[in-house]
Amino acid sequence: MVGTPDSSNIYKVLFVCLGNICRSPAAEGAFVDLLEKKGFSSLFEVDSCGTSRYHIGELADPRTRQTARKKGIELTHKARQFKRSDFEYYDFILAMDRSNHKDLGALASNEEERKKIHLFRKFQKGQGKDSEVPDPYYGTLKDFEEVHQIVSEASEGFLDYVLSKNGVKNA
Ligand code: 4NP
Repeated sequence: MVGTPDSSNIYKVLFVCLGNICRSPAAEGAFVDLLEKKGFSSLFEVDSCGTSRYHIGELADPRTRQTARKKGIELTHKARQFKRSDFEYYDFILAMDRSNHKDLGALASNEEERKKIHLFRKFQKGQGKDSEVPDPYYGTLKDFEEVHQIVSEASEGFLDYVLSKNGVKNA
């Protein structure tokens, strides 16, 4: 988590995948790292979770942590499941794939909540609105490295989007 949770003018961002051990903690780590490098940490609060209960309480997959560590990012997040109250708390709920998006949409109680859900990868430059972060769980280390690259680029696009939408100058 970064930022000051009790401050009212910060952007609250939640990354969501299925297990919360591969893609969403990788995205959380990459986005927090970008915020630190660009000096925007105090503007955001960031967390991640999974739609499933499969890995609650676990650290990220060793392959996710190894890949992040190579880029100087230490992942200490422990998996948790998405809960309905997250809709109220967070401003942006960023799904890694269309299945996560659909599952979140089914939990939303109204249009205001549904509008907070986005496919994260649509913010990556050159990607379409339906682009997904591929699930690396049954893959190799190379797949985890690809995920890291994708979530890093999508993080840059997402930060640009939030800052430009809100008139904040980005270096
Ligand atoms: P994630 O990857 O959703 O990116 O964390 C997965 C992790 C675990 C499982 C599937 C995907 N699983 O089936 O346990």
